[in-house]
Amino acid sequence: MIMAAKVYKFIVVGLGHISDHWLPLFSDQQKKMFGNTKRVEIAALVDPDQTTHAKREKYACGDAPCYVQLEDAFKEVESDAVLVLTPPQYHARYVWTAIQQLNHVLTEKPFVTEMNDLKHMIGLFKTIEEEHLICVVNQQYRWAPRMQAIRKAVDDGAIGTIGFITSYFNEPDYHFNLWWRQLHGDISAFNWYVHHYDTMRFLLKNRKPVEVYGKLIRVPYSKIIGESTVFLQVTFEDGIEWSYNGSQEGRGWKTPGQSMFTIHGSDGMIENPRDGPPMLYKVGDEKGVPLMPDPGDAQAPYPDYWHVTLKKFVESLDAKKPIDEDVTTFQNNIWTISIPMAARESHRQKRRINMKEFMESL
Ligand SMILES: NC(=O)c1ccc[n+]([C@@H]2O[C@H](COP(=O)([O-])OP(=O)(O)OC[C@H]3O[C@@H](n4cnc5c(N)ncnc54)[C@H](O)[C@@H]3O)[C@@H](O)[C@H]2O)c1
Repeated sequence: MIMAAKVYKFIVVGLGHISDHWLPLFSDQQKKMFGNTKRVEIAALVDPDQTTHAKREKYACGDAPCYVQLEDAFKEVESDAVLVLTPPQYHARYVWTAIQQLNHVLTEKPFVTEMNDLKHMIGLFKTIEEEHLICVVNQQYRWAPRMQAIRKAVDDGAIGTIGFITSYFNEPDYHFNLWWRQLHGDISAFNWYVHHYDTMRFLLKNRKPVEVYGKLIRVPYSKIIGESTVFLQVTFEDGIEWSYNGSQEGRGWKTPGQSMFTIHGSDGMIENPRDGPPMLYKVGDEKGVPLMPDPGDAQAPYPDYWHVTLKKFVESLDAKKPIDEDVTTFQNNIWTISIPMAARESHRQKRRINMKEFMESL
């Protein structure tokens, strides 16, 4: 007898801008992930702003009820998982509630924004393990074809042993036009640069940071209350050194959303340039060879790979464990989110942060 594939029921909390990328995956875009087999559906929608509830019709979410509070949804509907799309400052709260209800969790990045929240999340790992919950942070920049091509070249040894990396990101005059973007200290690092921090870990086979040194900068013409520019130095496992400069209040031209960087190894270097495909330069080769045809995404506002995260999440639910080491489980993502947290501490304390001591201090 052929068993029908399980359809996982999701409660979605937070129906703002980014939900426009997620909600279609539960209806007309489901094919992108699962062909003609239905694997996911929306059990309920939650947002305190009731004007957003009209998205139920806009995105054909069936008769899923809408609530202003997640707790009310749990009282009335059956669910397997919670998809958290709220402002970053509320992620920890909803993740906690979902896990108490023994639901699996998929949350947008950043995982959390405060050290105390990270401490509470780590405190949940025992429950997550005992209850076999799959808890994942969306970091979809990993799935962009250019990042996949660079990771493959690195893994295949195209540039030998990696020594150091330099990265640069400039997003001139960013809008910061929603309250949580203007009023939360170093939000640029948590909302944007975290993509670059996570992608760099991905390119380095999920290596962990060992030491972090950060300088957070508030430019005199800043629009926000915190620091929108960061100068960062990270030492990863195996002594790989990374220098990252990012700003959302720079001026002049824009770098790709995926940032510009150069990975230097014993046998050459790989460049993710401002325009065009990623390039491989072997020792003595100044012309270089493209690692892939130009994917044409250098100036894309976001890499559109939310569906890859959702597909991997569902496949991990089926397998009852993460399907591969690149799925950004909470246990994996603590090493991504620890980078902006340690940078903040480094800036405040004016010293390098040893990551083992930092994690043990939580
Ligand atoms: N992966 C990406 O490329 C990407 C891109 C943009 C945003 N994001 C992330 O998505 C998340 C949401 O960002 P956004 O741009 O949609 O923000 P947004 O401000 O447009 O939407 C947030 C929504 O959450 C609701 N909300 C506010 N307080 C809430 C609460 N206490 N409980 C439940 N809902 C609440 C708001 O009413 C709003 O509808 C953030 O974590 C952000 O970092 C990810």
